[in-house]
Amino acid sequence: MPSGEPVFQYSLVNRRGSRVTIITLGASITSLVVPDRDGQMDDVVLGMTDVQGYLTKSPYFGTVVGRYGNRIAKGHFRLDDKDYVLAINNEPNHLHGGLVGFDKRLWTARTVRSDSGVAVRLRLVSADGDQGYPGRLLVTLRYLFTDDDHLIVDYSAETLRPTVVNLTQHSYFNLAGHRRGDILGHELLVNADRFTPVDSTLIPSGLLEPVDGTPFDFRNATAIGARIDQQQEQLTYGRGYDHNFVLRRTGPGLEMAASVYEPLSGRTMEVWTTEPGMQLYTGNFLDGSIVGKGGQRYGRRAGLCLETQHFPDSPNHPAFPSTVLRPGERFQSRTMFAFGVRR
Ligand code: GLA
Repeated sequence: MPSGEPVFQYSLVNRRGSRVTIITLGASITSLVVPDRDGQMDDVVLGMTDVQGYLTKSPYFGTVVGRYGNRIAKGHFRLDDKDYVLAINNEPNHLHGGLVGFDKRLWTARTVRSDSGVAVRLRLVSADGDQGYPGRLLVTLRYLFTDDDHLIVDYSAETLRPTVVNLTQHSYFNLAGHRRGDILGHELLVNADRFTPVDSTLIPSGLLEPVDGTPFDFRNATAIGARIDQQQEQLTYGRGYDHNFVLRRTGPGLEMAASVYEPLSGRTMEVWTTEPGMQLYTGNFLDGSIVGKGGQRYGRRAGLCLETQHFPDSPNHPAFPSTVLRPGERFQSRTMFAFGVRR
């Protein structure tokens, strides 16, 4: 780190030889190597080559996002009759926890024993007032990688004063391999009947709108590229997909949010979560200016993010599921990325 502190890297390798690499900067996933339908291994996430790249150029490649993932309108919210002011780092809004979000922080880590796979636990303390958020927050994260290529991400957090929390994982997936161009051919299914339409600054209006008859209907698997360039107001605002889906849920447990199939490699990925929402972001802001791993230039839509989360701007929408965390409570959330192949 610029401070001289070391960044550590952990590799979780399972019995199949699949591998997830994590660094303590941002608790970031820097590579994820899984087989295709012929058993060929390839790295299916976008990433940078070095710490400098992660600190200065990376658009949240593989990071954990916090204290509040996604946008808070105009960087302002009220909690218990007090006003809080956050950095405007995505004009005119606050995005992904601010100027020094959890993605740019050094976490501490240690390996942990588990009967279900190989695991690492990371911790971070966010001070009272960090980036404008109230309350000292202790965050614990565990990555567990099983022998059947399931990556399970467990988040927990506790606060000393009332605050808001929304943690997510911001990996950019390309199931064909991170060097294989765009993700438009990936077939996506999203288990959602509704989404949260946004204004031109990507802040939800507050309505939960049916996906029926819109390019946001992924209830049957559909190629991401099939409708992405349609002349449609929401797609124009996002320059493609950059929207939160209201997941169909039957209870508080782990339920399937999405599944992805990449036809060339045969790789599949299911996303399961306890969260009520998921942001689909199709890498619309990538423009070839970022040179990542192996000298790869990441062009427009080279990766796909499925960010399980609470809805954007929840602190300003009392009708949305609450992101408030109070002293004595424990924030807990689980997301699983399950990799496989279809023959
Ligand atoms: C999120 C946002 C996008 C973009 C990316 C990072 O997914 O919704 O608009 O900011 O992060 O580039």
